[in-house]
Amino acid sequence: MIYINENYIKLPGSYLFSDVARKVEEFKAANPNAKIIKLGIGDVTKALPSAAIRAMHLAVDEMADASTFRGYGPEQGYDFLVNTIVENDYKAHGLDIAADEIFVSDGSKSDTGNIGAILGLDNVVAVTDPVYPVYVDTNAMAGRAGNLLQNGRWSKLVYVPCTIENDFVPELPKEKVDIIYLCYPNNPTGTTLTRDQLKIWVDYAIENKALILFDGAYEAFITEDDVPHSIYEIEGAKDVAIEFRSFSKTAGFTGTRCAYTVVPKTVMGYTKLGEKVALNRLWNRRHTTKFNGVPYIIQRAAEAVYSPQGKKEVKDIIDYYLDNAKIIRKGLSAQGLNVYGGINSPYIWVKTPDGMTSWGFFDYLLNDLNIVGTPGVGFGPSGEGYLRLTAFGTLENTKEAVGRFSKISIQ
Ligand code: MLT
Repeated sequence: MIYINENYIKLPGSYLFSDVARKVEEFKAANPNAKIIKLGIGDVTKALPSAAIRAMHLAVDEMADASTFRGYGPEQGYDFLVNTIVENDYKAHGLDIAADEIFVSDGSKSDTGNIGAILGLDNVVAVTDPVYPVYVDTNAMAGRAGNLLQNGRWSKLVYVPCTIENDFVPELPKEKVDIIYLCYPNNPTGTTLTRDQLKIWVDYAIENKALILFDGAYEAFITEDDVPHSIYEIEGAKDVAIEFRSFSKTAGFTGTRCAYTVVPKTVMGYTKLGEKVALNRLWNRRHTTKFNGVPYIIQRAAEAVYSPQGKKEVKDIIDYYLDNAKIIRKGLSAQGLNVYGGINSPYIWVKTPDGMTSWGFFDYLLNDLNIVGTPGVGFGPSGEGYLRLTAFGTLENTKEAVGRFSKISIQ
């Protein structure tokens, strides 16, 4: 007899982006001539920086020669990449992160999803609402979320609403929580926290011996000075926060797969008897047991992102997407729509017009304007009445989509 993990049958039928993709495929089959513009899933459209491509070509040649061939590498990442990350993303900003606190991986989706493996099932988990669905679904799979209720919430999760009413700034939960997921710049709302606003959460974590799982996948899009690039800019965060960073949105690695997670050796968890254990040790054990490292070729490409040429190219790519975001914000605002985010982020969070539901607005955009967005409610109950657009399309498609929005009549 094979017993299953019954937590999986508590989950909604499929992952949000699979639902959206299925709806789009159905529409395409019924309307083969429609020119669909996809501003739904946050997948990039610009090619990889040429510095990364060149590095990959060289690495492929090394793999072709037995004297330079590489087999298994260190699971945590090759020194050449880890040291480059430490120097550029931390030391250069006055932040003291050591090489053995960095774990190179195949993505922040995997790492934010897998980190729960080293954390007890009794922890009370808080998520902002709306939220990147991976945090919720993976806690549900582990059995930490309880049951899915009629109102779209999981019985054991603590939801921290982020809506127009609170300017998308999450307030501390009334109940005591042990694990807090924060993603800033935020997916899906595209909004940010200032250093002072983030400090409130770090102080809470210190006071309550809680852990912050800080997803900084969109860090490269920050344009404003008072927005922190790393949670370790906040005093005390090195004792309570794990940070996830990714090359996906920064350098176009969505299909190439490379990211890293920072687990400072000072972040502690506790046994039931109150004994302190460094989470770095546990994550190292998990990572080396279940993961065999990012391919050498890809790590060389990631390293090249930090070369002078790579940095210049990445800046141009980010500027291109931020220009798209500006075009979307401006165009939709001119139509009388309320839009948020898109200044330090590739995501624009749009309030649906005329009190439409998220899925209602999604269907309208798909059927009438042939534009694909992501329904806000798919990110959590507080996302109802919103829709997310991405700035990751091409400039041409972005302009075309904004032009199509002018057909909307808002009451
Ligand atoms: C999104 O659209 O939210 C992202 O593409 C998801 C991801 O990075 O996995």
